[in-house]
Amino acid sequence: MDRSTLRLFFALWPAPQTRAALARLAEEVARETRGRAVAADNLHITLAFLGERPVELVARLHDVAVAVDCSAFTLLLDDVGCWRKAALAWLGADTPSAELLGLHRALLHGLAGAGIAVDERPYAPHVTLARRTSTIVRRRLARPIAWHVDGFALLTSQLDRDGARYRVLATWSLRAAGG
Ligand code: 2AM
Repeated sequence: MDRSTLRLFFALWPAPQTRAALARLAEEVARETRGRAVAADNLHITLAFLGERPVELVARLHDVAVAVDCSAFTLLLDDVGCWRKAALAWLGADTPSAELLGLHRALLHGLAGAGIAVDERPYAPHVTLARRTSTIVRRRLARPIAWHVDGFALLTSQLDRDGARYRVLATWSLRAAGG
């Protein structure tokens, strides 16, 4: 394995209770779509995808993340849908979260300022719930999942026998709401 590069991304990484709620939904939606539920340990929302980068970049990413000055917030996730071409089912928010978009923008701004290029595709925040789906689902959750976002993480993705496995390299806290 080449250890001189890492596949890197910034993400929201759920606390255990939120992770458990997402995992239950992932199992349910995987059944509905005849797909494979994403492993509970892997559930997350990508903030910025960096891809394969030299390990030396991690220190610079640390500097960018430390400078992000955003407040904690609660993210309400209520919208389940599918991307047919990617054959995956996701959970998102029917009304985009201004705080989440602000956090994403702050991170991209910091990365751009540090001369670190990222994927330019429009940002579509989502939790991937199931992969290899073969039918479509689109529904609103009667009871949205409320995710208290008080920090974010830098992750690395490694491929093993069962697919991708994510590892937290570092986490940063957001400012206490109202503080
Ligand atoms: P996905 O869940 O929709 O597949 C690790 O691979 C994370 O980065 C996943 O959340 C994945 O999204 C996302 N990701 C992978 N490739 C990406 C790309 N080119 N641009 C943006 N996000 C990407």
